[in-house]
Amino acid sequence: MFSMSKGKNDVTEQRQRISINEGWSFFKYDSVSKADDLIYDVHPEVVGDKEYKVADAKPTEAIEVETKQAVLKPWILPSGNHFINDPAKRHVRPEGNPGSDFPFVQNSFDDRSWQKVNLPHDWAIKGPFQKGWDSEVSGGMGRLPSNGVAWYRKKLDIPASDVGKSIFLDIDGAMSYSIVWVNGKLVGGWPYGYNSYRLDLTPFVVPGGVNQLAIRIDNPNNSARWYPGAGLYRNVWLTKTSQVHVGQYGTYITTTDVSKTSANIHLEVTIDNDSKSDAAVETSTELFALDANGSKIGKAVAKFLPLKSNIISGKSAKVEGVVIVKNPKLWGPKPTQEPNLYVAVTTLLQNGKAIDQYETQFGIRTVQFDADKGILVNGERIQIKGVNQHHDLGALGAAFNTRAAERQLEILREMGCNAIRLSHNPPAPELLGLTDRMGFLVIDEIFDSWERKKTDHDFHLIFPDWSEPDTRAFIRRDRNNPSIIIWSFGNEVGEQYTAEEGASVAKRLYDFVKEEDTTRPTILAMNFAKSDMELPKVPDVIGLNYQGEGIRLDPDAMVTATRCEPQYTNFHTKFPDKLIISTETASAASSRGVYLFPVPERNSAVIRDGKGGDSKICQVSSYELHAVDFGSSADKVFGTIEQHPFVAGEFVWNGWDYIGEPTPYYEARSSYSGIIDLAGFKKDRFYLYQSHWCPELPMAHILPHWNWSERVGEVTPVHVFTSGDEAELFLNGKSLGKKKKDQYEYRLRWDDVKYEPGELKVIAYKDGKQWAEEVVKTTSEAFALKASADRTEISADGKDLSFITIQIADKDGLTVPRSNNKLEFSIEGPGEIVATDNGDPTNMDSFASKERNAFNGLALVIVRSVAGKAGTITVKAKSAGLTEAQVTIKSN
Ligand code: GAL
Repeated sequence: MFSMSKGKNDVTEQRQRISINEGWSFFKYDSVSKADDLIYDVHPEVVGDKEYKVADAKPTEAIEVETKQAVLKPWILPSGNHFINDPAKRHVRPEGNPGSDFPFVQNSFDDRSWQKVNLPHDWAIKGPFQKGWDSEVSGGMGRLPSNGVAWYRKKLDIPASDVGKSIFLDIDGAMSYSIVWVNGKLVGGWPYGYNSYRLDLTPFVVPGGVNQLAIRIDNPNNSARWYPGAGLYRNVWLTKTSQVHVGQYGTYITTTDVSKTSANIHLEVTIDNDSKSDAAVETSTELFALDANGSKIGKAVAKFLPLKSNIISGKSAKVEGVVIVKNPKLWGPKPTQEPNLYVAVTTLLQNGKAIDQYETQFGIRTVQFDADKGILVNGERIQIKGVNQHHDLGALGAAFNTRAAERQLEILREMGCNAIRLSHNPPAPELLGLTDRMGFLVIDEIFDSWERKKTDHDFHLIFPDWSEPDTRAFIRRDRNNPSIIIWSFGNEVGEQYTAEEGASVAKRLYDFVKEEDTTRPTILAMNFAKSDMELPKVPDVIGLNYQGEGIRLDPDAMVTATRCEPQYTNFHTKFPDKLIISTETASAASSRGVYLFPVPERNSAVIRDGKGGDSKICQVSSYELHAVDFGSSADKVFGTIEQHPFVAGEFVWNGWDYIGEPTPYYEARSSYSGIIDLAGFKKDRFYLYQSHWCPELPMAHILPHWNWSERVGEVTPVHVFTSGDEAELFLNGKSLGKKKKDQYEYRLRWDDVKYEPGELKVIAYKDGKQWAEEVVKTTSEAFALKASADRTEISADGKDLSFITIQIADKDGLTVPRSNNKLEFSIEGPGEIVATDNGDPTNMDSFASKERNAFNGLALVIVRSVAGKAGTITVKAKSAGLTEAQVTIKSN
């Protein structure tokens, strides 16, 4: 996991982890054709058009590379060596320094005219959105200018006192094909944009001198099926250590014989000796319990016996130990368990002097994967109530922000969600810090494609060279996070279709995972492979995408190769020892606050014009009965899962809307499948999940809204989601009857209601007793704006955020459902408006705009504090003809 730098003493001064997010210069070429040619490799679409001199050097041979038209891959491949197990397969860096005479990498280059940016930075998120069918970047990739070539430059602070230290650059993620130069010399790079990587800068820097870092990013178009983000979009660190130090991801903690009274903690520490002489090192590690804020509680709960090793100059060594923790506080998922954490503080001593200290956060828990009973955490069966989450943070784009990610998890938690599948790529490390602390179970996933492509520029291009280093780096970084319970090494990969050949690719990747972590099972998410095929034999756990409910069985669905009958039983029979989880369910779609008529009778239906969809306005009805052709409504999934209790549960596609993949309307910019919209506003579906996943929470939710002046006298169905088992609906005080849920029914429907304005009220019952109540009223016209902040106190650290909801209200304060008034936002005090949104997948206003229309009564303003500037922030919203609103936030 992460090492943390803390207090002030000799030991911690030896290891510094310095954020270098501030003060970068940024330049992006107008077009790829005008960009320099310091490329990682030839893009497949330009082969033939342009002549590239491929610097395909034999390792030790000196070669000449022209700055123009150079393929740098041979110099980049060695950056992955640490994660290639067979020494014979590791890459030897060729001679030479390609690119060294290119201006942008040189110390003397004047970058004052470049844009000044802080990281995490997503160069594409401010847009503009590219509209229309012939746009360069498709709807699938979010219509934002993520493609292109760009450079980042920054001067590093490496004082003379750093002489004799090892100095590393740690990049948590760079999208993509990043190549790094320091002081005009090519250091290395990493193509896959989602993985974290480290480069050793020690041979390249001059302590006490000027140290110029230059990073080239090449983000190809058609690299993904969704919005990838662009640039240095995660945190970047400079790590300084003594020459003998705990290596990268250098600790591995596992637990055995775990009970409430005792647990064995196994520790493995990898020590690197970068010095010129052999080193005799003593490693001592103490374990501390952490409180909910991550602070150590009291004295060490256990201490490993000192471990001695002699590490040869230039080599690494591993030491191992075991210790018992008495009465451990177990890590477990909320709400029935507590996510208790521990930290291991590892100190290296040389000649009795502390030379390094490294912290590893971990948890103590057991997880059983029982093919009949499902998942048991610390002996308790936990039904997986999970969602898939993409990496972007809505209007903030891919630029990682811990508070924005925490907000996503908080709103999911409120729905009863207890598990997250990180579809389909490694997350920012801080996200796993959140899932550890908040008690979510996690499937950590690495690939959406292997050798067989899904898009022209996806991972298949680099699979032969990078599948091993990427897989091993991914596991090694994350394997101490207790929230991760399963490793996924593929989503719906094309190798499902290639029998033995595909299975052998899978086996190779499976072995990498198992060699890196013996404690967790693996999974593949399969939407095509059937129980009698080869691929499902490989992973430890069966992951089914949509197959459990059956795919494309709706009479109106388009038939393709994935069409199938429900598969849970087939897989359970064929693999009686393998646990089954639905890695993707539903792919239901809706636009918040949009209701289209007529409403289908069945509880799951595909989307067509006049049947839940309207291709003219590109919106999908929020009666929450509709799914994409291969999907199913939430209701249908609940039913099939309940009828197959051996299934561990589901990961819904998906939790929050994300940028790109706007199925079924690719003219739009963002998805329709989220339970929560892109701005973070709850769709009706949120309450359907909450009613099923939080059976003890008294709640009832009515849909649709009740402002239908054009429908007076027309049939306007009313549906209720409740955790009760029956309910009575009233329209203007008149009962429309009591309804009870049948077995495998999850909503109550009054489909014959004729609209008249006024008040809808539902009283829900559970076991015959009154349980919950809800009212929806016809509002009068828009009168005023209302503003409310999710947090009115934030920290003045330049990162913390307040999410402000603006509502269009009538004179009684009720949100006016179909109001789309134009809004204008302004701010005073030490804060900035970083983005705005309204959750409408078709909205093409820049996320940076301070003007925007509300979408069905709501809009969002995201405010960020200014580092080091405390004070009161006032955010105002105004709109023609409506009373203004304002909210104040304290930044401390
Ligand atoms: C699945 C796929 C997801 C997403 C989803 C959209 O097949 O695995 O990544 O594309 O469909 O509905």
